[in-house]
Amino acid sequence: MAESIPPPAVLGPVPAHIAIIMDGNGRWAKARGLPRLEGHRRGVETVRTTTFAARDLGVKVLTLYAFSVENWKRPQDEVGGLMGLLEYYLKKELATFVRDRVRFRTIGRTADLPANIQKLLNDTTAATQHFSDYTLVLALNYGARTEVVDAARAYAAAVAAGRENLNDDSWSTFSRYLTTPDLPDPDLVIRTSGETRISNFLLMQAAYAEFVFTPTLWPDFSKADLTAAIADYNRRERRFGLTSEQLKPTHR
Ligand code: FPP
Repeated sequence: MAESIPPPAVLGPVPAHIAIIMDGNGRWAKARGLPRLEGHRRGVETVRTTTFAARDLGVKVLTLYAFSVENWKRPQDEVGGLMGLLEYYLKKELATFVRDRVRFRTIGRTADLPANIQKLLNDTTAATQHFSDYTLVLALNYGARTEVVDAARAYAAAVAAGRENLNDDSWSTFSRYLTTPDLPDPDLVIRTSGETRISNFLLMQAAYAEFVFTPTLWPDFSKADLTAAIADYNRRERRFGLTSEQLKPTHR
């Protein structure tokens, strides 16, 4: 039996929150003469392996961009196929999440998803909400601009009701109205398939994230690719607007 090759060692701290733009399912399928949906089906397998690979490496939060607000414009049979895969995935994973103590939650306008999917999402979220070591966030019917619009409306309503003060111009106050008040901002955003766009994903939360773009197509993304992205992240210097000198402790 062939021995599996161990992934390269991660040097340095592991990012607490990794967010991934999963791309390349269609090209993976096309390269094999398969229907696009087969690429998505293999993509779901990668969702499962990556969820546990990230946890094994010490990541605390993993956010996966599974369906964007723009994805509704794809051919209807592809949208239907993606919803079918989501249903299959949620039904299959609930027991695993409970067994392995994965807190599951979503971001995005899930109220616009089919009723059966909403029920599965609610059940999965409720059954895992008390876990705290590791969180999987699925971005579903998500778009950052939509999220900002929703946050602005909720904030305006809170001001009108006297619960917020319009003179408070702090980000910490406004950001509570985004869908992620209970999550740390992503430290690392990965996009697969060689594309170098952000595509309306976590635009506010990723303000200081590091970005890694890998040519690997999502169905082929492995624990070794994840480890390599973390190693790349560890070679960066995150300055958050400061100078390099300010970050280095001076020894006198
Ligand atoms: C992009 O590939 C991928 C998506 C549309 C989102 C990711 C979807 C999955 C991994 C499957 C469904 C997920 C779950 C959790 C059930 P693409 O089709 O845009 O690839 P292409 O650019 O090569 O055409």
